[in-house]
Amino acid sequence: MAVYSGVLETYRDYLDIPEHTRTITLLEGNTPLIPVPRLVETLGGKFELYLKFEGMNPTGSFKDRGMTVAISEAYGKGAKSVICASTGNTAASAAAYAARAGMRSIVIIPAGKVAAGKLAGAVAYGAEVIQIDGSFDDALNLVVALSERHPIVLVNSLNPYRLEGQKTAAFEICEVLGTAPDWLALPVGNAGNITAYWMGFKRFNKQKSTGLARILGVQAEGSAPLVLGHPVEHPETVATAIRIGRPARAEQALEAAEESKGRIIAVSDNEILSMQKLLASNGVWVEPASAAGVAGLAHELERGLIDLGGKRVVAVCTGHGLKDPDIITRDMPKPHALPAEMNALEDYLARERK
Ligand code: F0G
Repeated sequence: MAVYSGVLETYRDYLDIPEHTRTITLLEGNTPLIPVPRLVETLGGKFELYLKFEGMNPTGSFKDRGMTVAISEAYGKGAKSVICASTGNTAASAAAYAARAGMRSIVIIPAGKVAAGKLAGAVAYGAEVIQIDGSFDDALNLVVALSERHPIVLVNSLNPYRLEGQKTAAFEICEVLGTAPDWLALPVGNAGNITAYWMGFKRFNKQKSTGLARILGVQAEGSAPLVLGHPVEHPETVATAIRIGRPARAEQALEAAEESKGRIIAVSDNEILSMQKLLASNGVWVEPASAAGVAGLAHELERGLIDLGGKRVVAVCTGHGLKDPDIITRDMPKPHALPAEMNALEDYLARERK
């Protein structure tokens, strides 16, 4: 078996990256494409559905694909520091890859709106974490301006090498299925990932004639600038990862949806949380934002707005459930407290038999 070397080395020929790039990797990518036939039954459809479980990346989200390339480029040109604004996952990923390269990382987050597992990650990997009394959109404006005035590399998805790396998820899907799926559903926040998938499908199709997927981008109702057609000043959603009112790649995301003959829709927080539960009941625990893609498919199916009969569909589950444990533990039933005795356990089993 060939030794796996991460997304940059595996797909170097398909990535538009400069010569000076020097690989910094945690062997990200190569994530599972999990068939979920029981979930399709629950949704009442007759199609093939696969989850691209990006929570299996080294820092628990898809951001690692883009970060390995952005950090490798920055490292190769001799940069000493990187900076990003983040709802959490980008922060953890930037911190990990910067640590790997021996670089300084500074992350700016919106106060009170970053899930515990993400913040812990950023701190564990050694990032300097700054929280501002403002939104992700405010943080992004600040880091863009800072990176223009100081020798510090911006690693948000405005950095083109982030998108180069994130294209590799589309390549992997095409390789496993043999072609692009008929539909690809994914959550949309700052809109880098939807842009990268579309670039990736087009790039692979050019080289290998794998075809193109129609793209269903899914925003949260309270943070749906691309559906409303204007920025949202005070975005709100339980899916804090995509709590973004002014996506940096808005135009490209709309282009991806249109060119692919897909669309961008919004789902409610309730739909997102119900789908998070349904996914977990199929063995795949994702953070709330990561359930939005599948929630979008369910939303369209219920209303008869999409015909998936006989189709092959991939939903991208962008981040692991462990990123946001509070959303589960907050309303969790307390564990049954029993004495450490066989009798007590047997009584319990008899009483609670399902
Ligand atoms: N899913 C998760 C788990 C995310 O963390 C993000 C974005 C998205 C989906 C949306 O991807 O921004 O490319 O449209 N998180 C960014 C962050 C904003 O800072 O971690 P996008």
